[in-house]
Amino acid sequence: MIVVTGATGKVGGELVRLLAAAGEQVTAVSRRPAPLPDGVRHHAADLGEPAGLKAAFDGADALFLLVAGQEPQAILEAAEAGGIGRVVLLSSQGAGTRPEVYGHPAAFEEAVRGSGLEWTILRPGGFHSNALAWAEPIRAHRTAAAPFGDVALPTVDPADIAEVAAVALREGGHAGRTYTITGPRALTPRDRAAAIGAALGAEVRFAEQTREEARGQMSRFMPEPIVEGTLAILGTPTPAEQQVSPDVTRVLGRAPRSFADWAARNVAAFR
Ligand SMILES: NC(=O)c1ccc[n+]([C@@H]2O[C@H](COP(=O)([O-])OP(=O)(O)OC[C@H]3O[C@@H](n4cnc5c(N)ncnc54)[C@H](OP(=O)(O)O)[C@@H]3O)[C@@H](O)[C@H]2O)c1
Repeated sequence: MIVVTGATGKVGGELVRLLAAAGEQVTAVSRRPAPLPDGVRHHAADLGEPAGLKAAFDGADALFLLVAGQEPQAILEAAEAGGIGRVVLLSSQGAGTRPEVYGHPAAFEEAVRGSGLEWTILRPGGFHSNALAWAEPIRAHRTAAAPFGDVALPTVDPADIAEVAAVALREGGHAGRTYTITGPRALTPRDRAAAIGAALGAEVRFAEQTREEARGQMSRFMPEPIVEGTLAILGTPTPAEQQVSPDVTRVLGRAPRSFADWAARNVAAFR
């Protein structure tokens, strides 16, 4: 039995589908109800309240863990008590490149490394799917707005993160590894808007936001330190944040999926 937290999310949802299709028994954990494949058990719980996770962990072998709540040690102790021996953590590249800003995933990493469980840590950069923030303005007036229009980053397909997680959860050989997960090449926001236009067969205008405009928009759904950290990554990335990682290819034996591939699969959101 594999327990997947964040089952309503872009990575967790895809991971549940992959594991179920591979014939694994899966328990999907989320606070909201999740659309699930046949045979997958749902357990409603909040990672901020680890006591509520015990029933999900009972008799399970492996855990896909998301960074949420403030008690990673209590979550991991409950997992071990339930019989779980292996954990795969969805962290963030920022935990390695900017630990002073990304203290939350860094604390989860530390707890996982010290847990005594067999662990693998996944550190993705920004997701291709963050472009869904453009879905409404592209549908309404074929415009995508973002700051730092000419700064390139190798964003990653959440489906690739899910595939790497599925391998690390099901197969040996990944214990004690920390994988940096990126896409196949660095693209600018302007490039990504153009790729959505190509998928639509229509021109998408790119409107460069000022840093202040972007900060105002991001502050509506992110805490202040994360807004600053995200703006720093988007505007002045470190060489490590701009680099394409070989880890997806090493684990999956194929190149990561491109942004154009993601845009083609998700074009309906922009029509
Ligand atoms: N987006 C990026 O660029 C990026 C980059 C690096 C790392 N990450 C990390 O990747 C993860 C997924 O990000 P995403 O953008 O793909 O988000 P997402 O699709 O919205 O998924 C978030 C998931 O987290 C679950 N969740 C949140 N708080 C929870 C809690 N207290 N208890 C239980 N479940 C909780 C949500 O489930 P319910 O609301 O249904 O409970 C949902 O399934 C996040 O941890 C994020 O930090 C994202």
